[in-house]
This record gives sequence, C-alpha cells and structure tokens, in this order.
Amino acid sequence: MCGIVGYVGPQSALDVVTAGLKRLEYRGYDSAGVAVQADGGLATAKRAGKLVNLEKELSERPLPTGTTGIGHTRWATHGGPTDANAHPHMDNAGRVAVVHNGIIENFAALREELTERGHELASETDTEVVAHLLAEEYSACADLAEAMRLVCRRLEGAFTLVAVHADEPDVVVGARRNSPLVAGVGQGESFLASDVAAFIAHTREAIELGQDQVVELRRDAVTVTDFDGAPADVREYHVDWDASAAEKGGYASFMLKEIAEQPKAVADTLLGRIDGSGSLMLDEVRIPANVLREVDKVVIVACGTAFHAGLIAKYAIEHWTRVPCEVELASEFRYRDPILDQQTLVVAISQSGETMDTLMAVRHAREQGAKVLAICNTNGSTIPRESDAVLYTHAGPEVAVASTKAFLTQLVACYLVALYLGQVRGTKYADEIRAVVRDLASVSGAVERVLETMEPVRQLARSLAGKDTVLFLGRHVGHPVALEGALKLKELAYMHAEGFAAGELKHGPIALIEDDLPVVVVVPSPRGRSVLHDKIVSNIQEIRARGARTIVVAEEGDDAVVPYADHLIRVPVTPTLLQPLVATVPLQVFACELATARGNEVDQPRNLAKSVTVE
Ligand code: M6R
Repeated sequence: MCGIVGYVGPQSALDVVTAGLKRLEYRGYDSAGVAVQADGGLATAKRAGKLVNLEKELSERPLPTGTTGIGHTRWATHGGPTDANAHPHMDNAGRVAVVHNGIIENFAALREELTERGHELASETDTEVVAHLLAEEYSACADLAEAMRLVCRRLEGAFTLVAVHADEPDVVVGARRNSPLVAGVGQGESFLASDVAAFIAHTREAIELGQDQVVELRRDAVTVTDFDGAPADVREYHVDWDASAAEKGGYASFMLKEIAEQPKAVADTLLGRIDGSGSLMLDEVRIPANVLREVDKVVIVACGTAFHAGLIAKYAIEHWTRVPCEVELASEFRYRDPILDQQTLVVAISQSGETMDTLMAVRHAREQGAKVLAICNTNGSTIPRESDAVLYTHAGPEVAVASTKAFLTQLVACYLVALYLGQVRGTKYADEIRAVVRDLASVSGAVERVLETMEPVRQLARSLAGKDTVLFLGRHVGHPVALEGALKLKELAYMHAEGFAAGELKHGPIALIEDDLPVVVVVPSPRGRSVLHDKIVSNIQEIRARGARTIVVAEEGDDAVVPYADHLIRVPVTPTLLQPLVATVPLQVFACELATARGNEVDQPRNLAKSVTVE
C-alpha cells in the first residue's frame, strides 16, 4: 500500500524516482508526487490519479534538475485522492518534504498541537503532521536523521517515512515501523524503496531495514540506527532476480505474463526440495522434527487469495497427517481470542509478506506461544522475519494486483508442508510421499497444457462481458477454487460473483438461478472420490433445469458431465487433492479476459492495492 522511492547519486533524481514509481504503481494509484533538491530548495510536483497524470504535469511544467529526490504513489487512507492530499507533504516554509506509507494513529492530537503552535496544515492527511514536526525538530538540531528519530518516537501506528530537507543536500532519510522499507546500495548512489523492484534496474544489492529503524542515505553510505540513535543490525542481501522479471516482457499486462509464468513458478517452488530418491528435503523449515511431532493442531492464517490457498491446504494437511487444521481469515484471528499453545503450529501464508492483518495474526500467535511457519514469496519481508521459520515460494515478483502465480506456488508450498508433517510424524510412508511428490513434479507440465487450450475460455469470457452476475460452485477442494474464481472476477471485472459449496446450493443460493445465468462448476475427478463427482453432476442438472448456463471445468475423459455442460473446459487428470493447481488456471484466464472486454485495466483494479499494509 503506497509506493515510496528515495534516491541520492549522480543521476537525475527525477528520472530515477519516476521510473521507480512506475514499478511500484501496483502498490497504489490514487495519486503520485515527487520532490527534488534543486537550487538550494525543494521543487515538488503532485497529481491526483495515476502516475501518468504526474508525468503529464512534469512534461508541461518541468522541475529543475537535481540529484537527490523522493517520490510516492498513493493508496488513500486519510483524505480522498486529491492533488492536495497527494504526497510529498511539506512544512510551511517549504524546506522539508516527506512521503509516507501507513497510518499515523495519533495524528489528530499531533495536528491539534501543531495548529496551536501556529502551523497551517493544508491537507486532510495524517502525513502532513510529520513534515511539520520534522521542520520543528530540524530547526533545533540541524540534522535530518536525528529529527526523524525524535519525530518517530512520538508517532503511533504503522509508517514508512522518507524525507529530504533543503538544507541537507545529498541526504535522504527514511524510517520504518510495521511497514516495508528496503535500501539499495549502488556504485556511488543509494536508494530507498518500499520494494526492491523500484531500484532493481540500478542495483541488486539490498539492505533489509528492521523494525523501528532510521536510515540515512548518502551517495556512498547507508547508515542505520534505531529510534534512539544506536547503530542497528541490518541484513544485506543480493536480489536473485533482475529488472526483466519485473517488466511485462511483451505481454499486454503483468497479469497475463504472470499467468503464463505459472508452469515455471510451480517447478521453481519444488526445486531443491526433493532429493534424488523423491523424498522431501525441507531442512530450511528450522522447526525441529521433535517439535513438529508434538503439534496437535495446525491453524492457517491468511487473507484473500492466500486464504483460499489455506482452505485447500486444510484438506491435504488433515488427510495426510490426521492433525486437525483450522483456516482463519487473518483479519478476524486475534479478535476472537483463539485457543493457541506451544503445540499449535500456525502457518501464515502471504505473497507480499507485508499484509498487516496477517502480520498481526503472526504476532498474536507467537505471543501465545505457538510456533509460526510463514509461506511467503518476498525475501526479507516482515512476516517471514517475525516467524519461527519460512518456506519461500519461488514465484518471482508478482506485480499484478490480482494474485495468480503466487496462489499456485502457495498451494505447492502448502502441499510440501503437509507432506513434510506426514513424513516427520510418520503418518505417511516414504513411498506414499514419493508418489505425491511425483504427481507434484508433473503439475508444471499439466499447467502448461491448460494454458495451451485457453482460446475457447477467452472467447466465452468475451461473450459474457455484458452479464451482471457469475456464480461459481465446487465441492471438496473445488470449493476454495470456486471462491478464488469468484474473487478474481469481482476484483478485475467489478461484477457480482460468488463462490458456493455446491452442496449448499439447495439451502438458499439456488434462488439466485435464473434464465441464462452463467454458473461455473468445478467438477472433482470421477476417479477416487466418485461419490463427490456424482453429487456435483446432480447439482449441475439442478441448476440447468432452472435455466442456468453451465460452464463446467472437468478433467479430461470425464464424459458424465458432457450432456449437462453448455460450455466445457477440460483440465488434465490430477489426483483429487492436487486438482486446484490446474482447475484455477482457466478461472484466472476467464476473469482476466472478461475484465479486459469490459474495458478494465487488469493490473490495477479500482480501489485496490497489491500489498495491504494497513488493518
Ligand atoms: O500479500 P498477501 O498474499 O498477504 O495478500 C493477501 C491478499 O491481499 C491478496 O491475495 C488479494 O486478495 C489479491 N489481490 C487477490 O487477487
């Protein structure tokens, strides 16, 4: 939520910062702004709306050239998406400029205090108080990093702050609490950003900033302290992907690119985790085997798409380990006083590793003594750092707001965790584990085959662009797939879309069925749990009898569904528990195409942001 960039070095700060903002726009696109040090002062520009509005403003009214600057792309919290509320915010003298991600909870009291002291605040934001407080502190200490430390000690809430002062050339100062910030170390230049994607074109050497730290950026030095000024421990790391991974690479959207990357993402997530004999090697999960053997309950916490991955994981965990597993929306978790102890394993799933709701659930779980294992896609992010262990998914950067490849890799990671638990607890024999691992290894190819056959799905999606509602039905692991299909359609096409457990239909939702209503049905395999298959075939007949237009996702060779399918989408044969890995893909393509046909921008759906760093 909100993208932040800071730069100091020999290049044009405006060029570096706006290019960085372009890569961070997925984090919020309500407004954008920049500030550069130039001619002994600060020059700023900001505009409501997408970055393109700011770029237009800058081409019509260019800023003077400077080599130190900051920028921001906003997801609005306090104050609407107007020019006045856009960042950077400045003090009354225009000597300090600040950008912010997060929420300053005590801003009302601070604002009142400042107003009493004669400050005039021009926006409705919580951020502006920081600019004024920084100006006050700076006038006393003449040191921006020290001023930032003093201000941060007074702030409550979650924040990443990045500031420049006109009197401190070639210096950018940042601070973070409960919100992401990473530094980039180049040759004679330094960067700050919410995400390494902002500076990956310049350097792959990064410094992870910890909780409650202040960073001072100069051309050839990055100095980090805590809020009291004591030198802080930091972790330096090399980013293992390059700029091309965060570019569209010829695709019309990041979402299309990321859908296409799924076979590789799935294969990469398995890489190095299976030995030559097909057994699991998850030494990176540093929770000792004896602790995992004592686990008597697994609780999965996550939000949105990651929550759907958790719902699917429950089936695998309970089936393979016989340990009870609960799946909880992270935003609800700590407020219901969940029963947790040392024998509870909490699995937190998050692509970004920064989702505030999930982070708060992790903290709560650890306070109660539970062990926390994070499944995460972003190296060095907060959730894995605050967990006992982490299993990284290797999806590469996911830029589109709608999660696709992250979801598939989260599923792979969940299956690995479930099997690993089965391995250490002895509830699964080695040959059974090897068999599932073999099936998992073949999924990458299966996803590739699904992607090759998507043209009819795209055509169908386009033909439904004028509809108001689409329903999704599934049973067993197909139920979370239905929920995920509905979520994708809601967030991208802005349509009424709902997912139901097919068995629940007759308890209410069937009243929604009317003539020609599109209903997507995810059909379980007729092999194995054939009872489930037969029941869903009955459900399809029930809705069709009431006029629904049935769109049936069924595995190759399942002929029983043919008479009842108005549209048939085939997916490769997979074991029942793994079917979500192939069945979700057509639903992603469907939502992406339908949204495009409705004229929506799929990478940046309205009102959303990729990384939700507020509660
Ligand atoms: O970064 P996270 O995985 O923690 O994000 C969780 C949700 O915000 C995310 O999955 C969201 O639901 C996606 N936009 C769905 O496509």
